Amino acid sequence: MKKIVFVLISLFSAFDSMWSNVPDSVYLVVYNANPSQGLMFAYSADCSNWSSICDEASFVGSDYGPWGAGKKMYRPVLTRQSGGLWQLEFQLGRFNQYARTTSPDLIHWKPQDYPFMESREAVDQRFDEIDKALFKTVMVNGVEHRGCVYRIPYAQVEMMENVKLAAAMRAQCDAERLTDDHTRFSELKDKTLQAQIKIHADAPKNISDKLIGIFFEDINYSADGGLYAELVQNRDFEYNETDRAREPKWGHDYAWTVSGDGGTLRIEDADPIHPNQKYYGVLDVQKVGTSLENSGFDGIVLRKGERYDLSLFARQLTGKAGKLRVVLREDECIVGHTTLSAPTDKWKQSKAVITVTADASHACLCIEPTTTGSVALDFVSLFPQNTFKHRKNGVRADLAQVLADLHPRFMRFPGGCVAHGNGLDNIYHWKESIGPLWERKGQGNIWHYHQSRGLGYYEFFQLCEDLGCEPLPVVAAGVCCQNSGVGGNGQQGGIPLGAAFDQYVQDVLDLIEWANGDPKTSVWARKRAEAGHPKPFNLKYIGIGNEDLIGDVFTERYLALIKAVKSKYPDITVCGTTGPFFEGSDYEEGWRLAKQHHIDMVDEHYYVSPGWYIHHQDFYDQYDRKASKVYLGEWAAHIPGRRSTIETALACGMHFCNLERNGDIVSMSSYAPLLAKHGHTQWNPDLIYFDNEHIYPTVDYEVQRMCGQSQGDTYLPTSIFLSTDDWKPVSADVQRRIAASTVRDSQTGKTYLKIANLLPQPLNISGLNLPATAHITTLSGTPEDREAHATAPTQLQMTNGVFQIPAYSFNVIEF
Ligand code: AHR
Repeated sequence: MKKIVFVLISLFSAFDSMWSNVPDSVYLVVYNANPSQGLMFAYSADCSNWSSICDEASFVGSDYGPWGAGKKMYRPVLTRQSGGLWQLEFQLGRFNQYARTTSPDLIHWKPQDYPFMESREAVDQRFDEIDKALFKTVMVNGVEHRGCVYRIPYAQVEMMENVKLAAAMRAQCDAERLTDDHTRFSELKDKTLQAQIKIHADAPKNISDKLIGIFFEDINYSADGGLYAELVQNRDFEYNETDRAREPKWGHDYAWTVSGDGGTLRIEDADPIHPNQKYYGVLDVQKVGTSLENSGFDGIVLRKGERYDLSLFARQLTGKAGKLRVVLREDECIVGHTTLSAPTDKWKQSKAVITVTADASHACLCIEPTTTGSVALDFVSLFPQNTFKHRKNGVRADLAQVLADLHPRFMRFPGGCVAHGNGLDNIYHWKESIGPLWERKGQGNIWHYHQSRGLGYYEFFQLCEDLGCEPLPVVAAGVCCQNSGVGGNGQQGGIPLGAAFDQYVQDVLDLIEWANGDPKTSVWARKRAEAGHPKPFNLKYIGIGNEDLIGDVFTERYLALIKAVKSKYPDITVCGTTGPFFEGSDYEEGWRLAKQHHIDMVDEHYYVSPGWYIHHQDFYDQYDRKASKVYLGEWAAHIPGRRSTIETALACGMHFCNLERNGDIVSMSSYAPLLAKHGHTQWNPDLIYFDNEHIYPTVDYEVQRMCGQSQGDTYLPTSIFLSTDDWKPVSADVQRRIAASTVRDSQTGKTYLKIANLLPQPLNISGLNLPATAHITTLSGTPEDREAHATAPTQLQMTNGVFQIPAYSFNVIEF
C-alpha cells in the first residue's frame, strides 16, 4: 500500500510542476477556524488572495484533554527554527499549559508536549503578545482568520495537497465493504473460482507459538458483575459518587435497599474494618423483620443444589445483639438461608455455606437482624463454590471456559486504559490489588464505574495458570492516560520525578519479585506464598505503557522503567508501546524509541475497517526483521454501527493469516475488548457478550477460537493462484480477497491450513496433496450475519484432490 501512495505522490508532483504556471514561492498562513478541527493552511501569491490548502483538512490537531471534542486548539503559532524545522505552539483553553510540537515538512508532526507557565493569565499574555507581533488578518473562503504568515516554496503546497490526496485515496480503499460486493463483483455472479494453493514445506520458518492470547480489561463490567464470580454488588459500600459522575443513584448505598417498617441504612466511616475500606453500612432496625437487601449485579443467579459461601463483617452498635438471619429470595420465594451468630461490639467476620434449594435468576440477598438496634455491616460476600477450577474467590466457570476454548497462549491485564487510568490518582497500582480482599483498594475506573479489585493481580496470575497461558501484566509507564479528564490538567500527567517516581519504579520491580521470587528471601514473594502460591508464577513478560502519547513526560519515565527492569531482570521480555494507531506521531516516535533503545517488543493497537485489513495485507511484510518484535495488543475490525458480523470476523481471519506469515516478528496478538455485559457496555464490538446466565460469543470469537485452536510454531509459505473456471487470471481486486497460511505445531505434529475467502463466490481448492484424514472447520455466512457458528471439524470431502469452500468463509484444515 505504501508503495502505491509513494508512486502516486511522485507522479502528481511531476505533473503539477511540468504543466502548471506556478510561482516558485508563495505566502503561507496557518490558522484555526474551529478549535476541534486542528491546524489549517492557506497560501497566496500576493498576500491578499488566499486559497485554502487541502480544503482546510488538517495534518495536526490538539492531543490535549479527554477523548473527542475535549481536545481543542486555539491561536496556533508557527515559527521556523534554525535548521528549517517548523515549530507549532497553540493555546489549549483556560489552562496554565500550552502545546508545542515540531515538524520537518508541515505534514508529519512529533508528539505534543505541554509546557507549564506560572498561571493561565501568563499563557494568555504570551499568546496576546505573539498575536500582536506576528498575526495578520486574512480572508480565506470568505471568512476572516488571524494567523502567522510565512514564505514557502510552492512545491511545499503541492506536496501537502498530494499527501492529502493520497490519504483520501487510501481512505477510499479502506472503506471497501463486503456488503457492496453485489455491485463490485457483479461479473463473478454464477461463476466458480478456482484456487490453486501450494504449501512450500521445503521453506519452513520459525514463528511465535503465542500468536493468540487474551486481552482482559475491566471495561463493560468485565470484572465485577462479570468474570469475577462475586454475586453481591457494592459488597463493601465503597461505591463512590466520583466513580460515576453521571449516574444520579450511584453512591455508597448503591444496590442496597431496606425493607421493613422504619428501617434505615446509614453510611458511616468511623472505625472501619480496614483503612482501605473506609465506609460501611449501618442498619437501624426499629422493628424485627427489617432487612437489608442487595440486588446483586442485575439480580443474583442461583442454581439448585449448588453451594454458596456467605461471609460478612458485623458489629453491634446499639441495642441488644441478636443472630443475623441471611436469606436468599426471589420475589416471595426463599431459595436458601442461614443464620449467623450475634455480632459483638467489635468487628467480626462470620461465614456460612448456603445450599440453594431452587433455581433463581433474579434473587436478592437479605440480611435480617433478629433484634432491634443498629448493626454495622461490611464486606458482605456471596460466592459460588462452583467457580472455574473451583478456586476460592475465583471466576465464573462458564465464562472462563469460553476463554479456555480460545486456547490462549497468554493473558494481558489489567488493561487497556484501566492500566494507566484517568488521571495520576487513578493509575492501577498492582500492590493495591493483592492481599486479603478487605485490605485491597477499590477505585473508580476510567470507564466510569467502580472496580472492587477482588479480581486482582493474584487472581489474574492464577487464572493464567488455570488457562495454561503466560501472564502479561501491563503497568503504566509512570504516566496516566493521555485522554484523562482529570489530573495533570486533563492530560497525560507524569508521576513526579524524585521520590514518588523512584517508589513507582520499585513497585514495578517488586511485581517481578512477587511473581517469581523465593519466599524464603523475598518479602514480596512471601506475600504470594501467603496468598496460597508458594511456587513462582514464572513471569516472563511485562508490558510498560498502554498506547500512550509519546511526549517528553512519557519518554523520560518509560525509558527509566525499561532500564530498571532490564538491569535487574534481563530475562524478562519488556513490551513497550507505540501509541493508539498504526501510523501517526506516536506510532513513529514509539517505534523510533523501540529501535534506538532495543526494546524487546512493542504493543501496537488498531481498530480499523474491514477494508483496511483487505488493503494492508503486506503491513508486516515490510517490517524490519531485526527490530523489536510486535505484540498486536488491541485489534478488531470496526464497521459503522460497531457490530461483530461475518464481515468483521472474516477481515480478522484474513489478517490473522498475514500475522502468521509474519510470525517471525509478530509474537503475540489479542482481539480487544474481550468481554461485555449486556446493558453495561462502554465499547462495541467486544469478543464475548454475556449476562448473568448466558454467554453470547460473537462471530469474531468464532474466528479467534478457530485460530487459537490451530496455532503452530513453524510457518510453511503458502501461495494461492486464483483464476476463473476457464483458468483466466482474476483481477487484483478479486485476488486480494483471499488469504491463506499454513503452520505446523512441532509438539503435536499437526499442520493447519487457514483459508479466508472474502469473496461472494465459493472456491474450488486444488493443488494440495492432502491426506484422506484431513478435517475441515468452517465459519461462513452473509457479510451482515451476526449469528453464524463454526462447524464441528468434519472429514474433508475431496474429489480428485479438489474440495470446495463456501463464499464468505473462514476455514481451518487440519492434517
Ligand atoms: O479496548 C478498549 C480501549 O481501547 C482500551 O482500554 C484502550 O487501550 C484503547 O483505547
